[in-house]
Formats: sequence, C-alpha cells, structure tokens
Amino acid sequence: MPALSQQEFNQIRKRFQAVTGISLNDSKQMLVAGRLNKRLRAYGLSSYQEYLTLLDAPNAADERQLMIDLLTTNETHFFREPSHFDFIRDEVFRQLKPQQTFKAWSAACSSGQEPYSLAMLCMDKLGAHNAWEIFASDVSSKVVEEAKQALYPLHESTELSHDYLHRFCLRGVRSQEGQFLIKPEIQRRVKFAQINLNMPLPVVGEFDVIFLRNILIYFQLPMKQKLISRVLSQLKSGGYLILGHAESLLGIADDYLLAQLTTLHPSVYQKN
Ligand SMILES: C[S@@+](CC[C@H](N)C(=O)[O-])C[C@H]1O[C@@H](n2cnc3c(N)ncnc32)[C@H](O)[C@@H]1O
Repeated sequence: MPALSQQEFNQIRKRFQAVTGISLNDSKQMLVAGRLNKRLRAYGLSSYQEYLTLLDAPNAADERQLMIDLLTTNETHFFREPSHFDFIRDEVFRQLKPQQTFKAWSAACSSGQEPYSLAMLCMDKLGAHNAWEIFASDVSSKVVEEAKQALYPLHESTELSHDYLHRFCLRGVRSQEGQFLIKPEIQRRVKFAQINLNMPLPVVGEFDVIFLRNILIYFQLPMKQKLISRVLSQLKSGGYLILGHAESLLGIADDYLLAQLTTLHPSVYQKN
C-alpha cells in the first residue's frame, strides 16, 4: 500500500469535510489510507496524489461520491439504544391523536436497521391500518442502496425479538441463503433518500419524531449547531428530537436553540 503523506491526508480530509461537514482528526490517517487504497488499486494508481487529481476531473462525480461512501462510518444495529424505542412506544404513541398520521425521520439511517426498527414498532403498536410513515436518509448513497435492499446477514437477526423476527422478517433462501429479508409490508412503509445534512435540506416535510443518532459525534461545534437547527426546522411543534445516548445538546445549543426545546432526557428533546 502506498504511503499517505500528511499533505495528501490534509487534502483528503479537507475535501471530505467540505462535503459532509465531518472533521477527521489525525488519528484517522491510517484508516483513510486503508479505505481509499482499494480505489488506487482499482485504477492502478501508485499514489494518493494521483487519486486526488482523478477526483478533480469534471466527470468524476461518481468517484467523489464513492470516496464519501468509503470514508463515512456506518455502524448501526436493529433496535440500537432500545430505551428510545421504549420512549416512542410508551410516550409518543400514547399521545397520538385519533386520525393523526405519525411521521418519523431517521436522518442518518445508515444501512436501514434504524428506520426498519421504527417501522416494526409502528406496525406492531399502530397496526397496518393506522396512518404512519417512516422517512430515512443518509449522505452515503452506498448505505441507502443497501437499506433499500432490506436484506441483512442472519447473525443480525439476534438483535430482533423472536416475535418481530417471526412477524416482520423472512428467512433468505437460494441466492439469499444466510440472510434475512424485511417483509414487503414493512419495506413499503419506509421511504429512503440520499440527503446530505451539511447542505440546505430538500423538501422533506414535518415530523413528529426525528432520529439524529450517533452522527453529532463526528462534527465540530459550528457544524453541530448548524445541523441541529436545520433538522429542528423539520420537527413539528411538540415533536421529539432523539440523539444518540452518548450525545447531548449540552454545550452545543445556543440560547436561541435551547429556547425552542425542552430536555426530557439527556438525549431526548421536545420542540416547544
Ligand atoms: C454511526 S452511523 C449511525 C447510524 C444510526 N443513526 C444509528 O445510530 O445506528 C452515522 C451515519 O451518519 C451518516 N452521515 C455522516 N455525515 C452525514 C451528513 N453530512 N449527512 C447525512 N448523513 C451523514 C453516515 O453516512 C452514517 O451512516
């Protein structure tokens, strides 16, 4: 593997940050070298500088997206941080008005486990006939495409209860051996899009719940503030913003943002 010089690393992280808002610290140099090395090999390039030159070509939009896909960290699980799902079941659903369509947005959905978990919970507690919609997006087109496939390795099935596995999933056969599929009636309720939260948002609508979990950790303060206010503009009054357990708005939100929110738990906020 060619060495990634400090100067090349700086150029790559500057480019990555300009698109995603994510700042990669010095400890990520080896990781970046490893993840991009496969692109050097694919093109038969002998240095990262050559790859950077290639990225500048006007027709290299797909390669620029591929670089973003390779450098984002997409770790996720079904029903990750389960207390958030308990909160939705016990508090949010209880407050729904008759005829109200429940709308949730998983704003950094990775490969789909988070929005499908939400959809299973909705199907279980709100049912097939009630109105509910899940919208899910991520900056990485690769994970969004994976999410649309709704096909997961069998070992991830242990993250689901037997009941949910039985009711909402199908065991893969033939070419899908060793995998399981989210049932079409769940899949149909989840709409996916590629959305970069570092850019002005397209029209996404207004939501009762927005999941913005395990993403703030990758940003520096000004970007965190920008991102929170951007996402908050899509939350209904009385709606809930849910961050990852290790995240909070303490030290992030300025007075203007704080005035819009009530803290219910360190990672759960309600819009006033
Ligand atoms: C660690 S995963 C968290 C997935 C899921 N929310 C969870 O908690 O399990 C973080 C996700 O944020 C996405 N991401 C990073 N920067 C983003 C941006 N600027 N806009 C949208 N998504 C972004 C990454 O692609 C990645 O899939």
